[in-house]
Amino acid sequence: MSNEYSIAVIPGDGIGEEVVAEGLKVLEALTEVFGFRLRTTKYPWGADHYLATKELHPDSAYDEYRQMDAVLLGAIGDPRIETGLIERAVIAGLRFKLDLYVNLRPIKLYAEHLCPLKDRTPEQVDMLVMRENTEDAYTGIGGTFKQDTGDEVAMATMLYTRKGVERIIRYSFEQAVVTGRKKVTLVDKANAIRAQDIWTRVFEKVASEYPNIETDHMYIDAACMWLIKNPDWFDVAVMPNIFGDIFTDLGAMVQGGLGIAASGNLHPGKVSMFEPIHGSAPKYRGKGVANPLATINAAQMMLTYLGEEDAARCLEKSIARLLESRRIRSLGAGEHSTAEVGDLVVAEVREVASQKT
Ligand code: IPM
Ligand code: MN
Repeated sequence: MSNEYSIAVIPGDGIGEEVVAEGLKVLEALTEVFGFRLRTTKYPWGADHYLATKELHPDSAYDEYRQMDAVLLGAIGDPRIETGLIERAVIAGLRFKLDLYVNLRPIKLYAEHLCPLKDRTPEQVDMLVMRENTEDAYTGIGGTFKQDTGDEVAMATMLYTRKGVERIIRYSFEQAVVTGRKKVTLVDKANAIRAQDIWTRVFEKVASEYPNIETDHMYIDAACMWLIKNPDWFDVAVMPNIFGDIFTDLGAMVQGGLGIAASGNLHPGKVSMFEPIHGSAPKYRGKGVANPLATINAAQMMLTYLGEEDAARCLEKSIARLLESRRIRSLGAGEHSTAEVGDLVVAEVREVASQKT
């Protein structure tokens, strides 16, 4: 019996529908080549659905996802709706309600010419960023007082729990071991934000259980500098939610842009969510010019998570070959049609798979 996985698909807003269609096209080809099966269920959450029904994301859907293996999400966000409303309901909703405490964001340069930094090679830019995904300034604790008066007060709480900090740090060390990486770097700002001292202390404690893994410690401002100057210093990097958000957009540029950067929102052992890092790019909606590679790369991460490692490796190799050989000429919008990129990946997957046997 071949393995079968059930996947919730949320195309979302803007270019979401188009890029997810290419992700599914590639996954479909991989099921044929590698002999596993996917059962997909599509969900309509997003701006159009909200404007038509006033429903953002029903709680009942979380119970459905919990019965499934993974969620594949396109993009959420639409200028017709109050800033952040739909993002908080769908993206943050998934992260919090499914307790997806790891936001795994690999920063990997697939081809030298894609890097905006001078003389950087793929060997030098290859790291796993572990962004904590359920705490920090994202919990919504805080608010405004005396809004729109001269005495207005606005407050948001940076919240860290020992449990929350420990589990993401532990996962980072575990993954360093599993993936054969050598070093885990803690990124915080404990010199200015004293509450982040919890990160420094818990990191030291967990690190002591992994004597074969090297450790390093950087403050976030310096980490941004080193990412540009010496990207090869990073192997696995773990950090609080808000710093991970910022650091990985910078990282996406180092690997060639948001057109390739993907992420996995994980609760190890439970249903997890995979998405491109880019947004919904409403101006490109329906034009067929958006580059779907980041979503295809998110599908690749999903396959790894599901345990379909051969398929995931084949897909990643196919993406790398298409970029190295410049058959996919750019990661931006408009250079190829959205469907053309999907077709190129499908053809390359078949080619790579046939060479192996
Ligand atoms: C991301 C996004 C989200 C975040 C937004 C849309 C809430 O920027 O996934 O990185 O800040 O986490
Ligand atoms: Mn972000």
